[in-house]
Order: sequence, then C-alpha cells, then structure tokens
Amino acid sequence: AMPNPLDPANLFAPDVAGGTSYTLKIKEFQANLGLVNPATGKAVKTTLWGYGSTTQAPSYPGRTFNLRQNVPVTVRYVNELMNSAGPLPHRLPVDTTIDWANPGNLGGRAPVPLVAHRHGGDQGTLSDGLPDAWATPDVNLNGMPDYRGRLFSASYTFDNSQEAGHLWYHDHALGVTRLNVYMGLAGNYFIRDKNEDYLVQCGQLPAYPYELPICIQDRQFKNTGALNYPATDPANPSAPNPTHLPEFFGDVVVANGVPWPRFDCEPRLYRLRLLNGSDSRVFTLSFVLENFQGTKLTFWQIGTDLGLMNSPVPLTSLTLAPGERADVLVDFSRIIWWWHGKVIVRNSANTPFPNGLPPVAGTTDRVMAFSVTKPLGFFGWSLSLLTGAAIPTNLRPVHGPLPTPVTTGVKVRKLMLFEGTDAYGRLQTMLGTVNPAAGNPAGPGFGTFLYTDPVTENIAVGSTEIWEIYNTTVDAHPIHLHLTNFRVLDRQGFTGTLVPKPMGFGATGGYLTRIALSGARAPALPNEQGRKDTVLAYPGQVTRIVATFTRPGEYVWHCHILSHEDHEMMRRFVVA
Ligand code: C2O
Ligand code: CU
Repeated sequence: AMPNPLDPANLFAPDVAGGTSYTLKIKEFQANLGLVNPATGKAVKTTLWGYGSTTQAPSYPGRTFNLRQNVPVTVRYVNELMNSAGPLPHRLPVDTTIDWANPGNLGGRAPVPLVAHRHGGDQGTLSDGLPDAWATPDVNLNGMPDYRGRLFSASYTFDNSQEAGHLWYHDHALGVTRLNVYMGLAGNYFIRDKNEDYLVQCGQLPAYPYELPICIQDRQFKNTGALNYPATDPANPSAPNPTHLPEFFGDVVVANGVPWPRFDCEPRLYRLRLLNGSDSRVFTLSFVLENFQGTKLTFWQIGTDLGLMNSPVPLTSLTLAPGERADVLVDFSRIIWWWHGKVIVRNSANTPFPNGLPPVAGTTDRVMAFSVTKPLGFFGWSLSLLTGAAIPTNLRPVHGPLPTPVTTGVKVRKLMLFEGTDAYGRLQTMLGTVNPAAGNPAGPGFGTFLYTDPVTENIAVGSTEIWEIYNTTVDAHPIHLHLTNFRVLDRQGFTGTLVPKPMGFGATGGYLTRIALSGARAPALPNEQGRKDTVLAYPGQVTRIVATFTRPGEYVWHCHILSHEDHEMMRRFVVA
C-alpha cells in the first residue's frame, strides 16, 4: 500500500513539541519497498538515504513539512552518512570528471557531500541550499565555507511568507545531485494559508486523508534490491568509467517510494498533490478506467507549482516534467457505478521528451492504481454518486484573482539552451545568453557558459524581468529558477544559426545567431496560468516567463533534468 505523506506520522516533528526549529539528520537505512529477488523469490531490502529528525527515523521519500504561512521556522541539516569507521562512501558511481562537490579524502575514504535546497522557496541566499554550500559528515554541519570562501548558515531560516503552495526539498550538491536524490533525498514541503482554509472549511477542497501528495520517480533495481545507477554509457563506450549519463531512465515507476502501488480510496473527490521527482523522465499522466476500454476520466487542475490558480482547468492528461508539481482534483465518486472500479494512472510521455521512444507497455506506461473499494466516510454520498462531486469555481476567494503580470517596460533577458560537448566528447547541454539584435556571432559575453564562469544574469533587486529562453536543442528541458516564482507568458517558434565555440576545459559550446521568430505566440497553457518555478522549454521554441526578484543575493537557475543540472546546465544569478 502507498503511504500518504500527510499522515501525521509522516510529518517532521520539530525539535521541541510545538516548536519551530527542526534538526534533520541524514542517515543511511534499509527499507522494504516490496521488491522480490526474481532469482530466489525472496523479499529484499533497499539501502537508501533519508532525512530523519532528532526523534524520527529517516524515510523514503523524506517526511513532509506541513507549515503555516508567516510562521517562520529554522531547519538545520546534519550529514550523518557515517559509522564508527568513518564517513560512508557513496553507494552509486560518482563521476569525478565533471565539476562536482569534491570533498577530497578523509582517512582513505571519500565522504558524501550533501546540501538540502528548498525548491520553490522564497528564502535568503544563505538559507537556499545552493550547490556549493555542501557539507560532509566530518564537518558535520552546514557552515563549511564554499570555494569562494562564503560561509553558509548552520541553520536555514524560512519565513514561509509566500502563498500556500507545494514546495519540496531535495539534495543539491554540485555534480552529485542526481545520485543523492536517487538515494532518496527528497520530500514535500507544504505551506498552508487562509485562502486554502476557507475552501476546506466550506467543503470545496478535500483535506487529509482525502488530500494525497504523490511523488513520482523512476528507478532501476538490482536483484538484491539495491538501487542501480549505471556507471557506463553504452552509447559512448569511450567515456570515462564511471560516467554520468546524458539522461537517466528507470524501468520501475515508484509513487511515494512504492513500485506501482495501489491506493484504496473512497468513492469521492480527492485532492492529489503531484510531484515529478525523477532524474530525467517527463510523465504525461491520465486517469484511466480499467474496465472501460481505456476511458480517461476528466480531472481538474487547481494549482501550479506554487499555489492555486484562479479557477480549475479540466484535463484528461497532464504533462509533468522533473521538478514540476500539480495540484489536481480527481472525482472517484461515480467510479462505483462502473462496478468494482479501478483507475489506473497511466503515463504516455516519450523518453527523451517529447521526441523519443514511447513508454514500455506494462512498466513505464503506468504509475499506480486507485481502487475504489472503501466505504464512504460520511453521509450525503448518494447525491455525488449521481451527479459527481462539486468542483469549486473560485479557487481564490480570500486572495482574490492572481495579479496580471506586468510585462510592459520591463527588462527582457535573452537566454539559450545549447547542445555542446565536454572534454571527453560527451553531450553537454549548456546555458547561455543570446543577442539576436546583433544578428551575427556575438562577441565576448554571448553564447554558452559553464557553471563557474562569471555571472551574466545580474539583476536589480526588486525588479521584474522577462526571460526569453531559446531552446536550440532537440529535447524539452524543465527550466527552474531559485528564489522567485514566475508566470509563463507564451511560447513561439524560432529559427537561427548555431555557431560552435570552444569553451574552457576542452568543452565546445556555441553561439546562436540570425534568430528569426516564426509563427504566432502561443499563450501559456490554461494549466500553466499560476505561480510557477519550473517551466518546460520545448525544442525549437522560445519560452517566455516573467519574474520579480525580491531578495538580494546569489542564486541559481538550471535545467531540472538532474543529469543535465549535474553536467553544466546550471548558472548562477545575482540579485543586487
Ligand atoms: Cu529542485 Cu535548484 O532545484
Ligand atoms: Cu535539460
């Protein structure tokens, strides 16, 4: 059975009952994910890393923060990946040829660098959990200076001043984020506010246990139950061993840590808080009635990454890229009419997305099942059996409608996604800035950059900017900005000329020149019209977003395909 991350037992306990400070200890542990060794037929356990608290054991996925708006908390993360013999080694193949949080050796052992980022959080730079702010167990607290000598806070402060939304936290150590998250280091972080209270109290939004967060990830397992992460790339035999991969795709889909779980539910409305916590896999989800020739249920998206939209958007499928969240209402109330109803959550997204191979029938084309078998927990169900549950129409009765983004008179920043190669000839998707006005190979300052290159995104504090993200690659990339929430404006086709450019460290990047826009601007999809922090930039399109940068400090923006983020598809930006 799949756990509900909002079950009180799955919430983080503060250090002192009723308090607001949390000391979270990252430990190695073993869990039974329901796997059986196909060779022996015996149940096997999986070694994982998880966040525990001073009184709670680590878990996979990580426990849930469920906090109120404007109630500040402090969170201290302690790396306890160690035993009496010293720091534990990484359990997965670390690619030491890329720019990574190299901790060196300690008594012949390489400790694991860790740093936890609160994704979607409006937080100060020293509490952001930036890729360079990692710590090892021998240092035993955040507060180790990074390579630029900055000392990061031992305790992170989160004022939780933003609107109710679905944040999450996950490891972010430079160049090993994909491996640390794969080991289990991710969990949900919800902020609650009065607008949401109102909807719940009026019976318009389901609350726990009818609110169910679902973290979707793909994994590979060995027969022994151990997580498998390939050390070599069959498509590139001359790559170093171990090597990171251009992308990672697992053949097992887990929801809240359970492979293809079944969730027994009541015939009523549920609020699902979906999170794609995968490395590279995009999911296109639909809710399919098992016994009715694949009939897709209509469901309603009510919220984007960081809060409720103005009104629900009816959908029959939903694309969720790594890092993205969706808040949806699914009505199981009439499923019982279709007799012994089972609803399968199906996936139809290609890998890579959108132009790759379709998912595999029977494995990656499905996520989980809802079995509508539980009796209703309250009276009044006969009406919804006939009519379906009522869907709220105004999702922001207290907040009022989302502000219309200001787009006139704001700075427009042009950015680029570009496929180059690294010093080993491996595909390396890079970020850069472009200057289409120049119409020719730009001089210094335009083109691709590496993570450690000087900052090019220098932003005035308090200012609003439109970011135009030109995707010159063949794949879609989920682009994520720290600190800010943004609104998606539109997307538009473009053509241009790519000019290769040698980069530092033997890498090849490039310029984008002679850009011509093509076709009309397609406005943001109806279910993107809310606060976002991650947006899919499709190949051959410019994706336009608008954001206000409220806090001074250094942050990062990056692709949320973790294998890309770990391999230079990340840049720092500075708000000052
Ligand atoms: Cu979800 Cu920079 O991260
Ligand atoms: Cu990417």
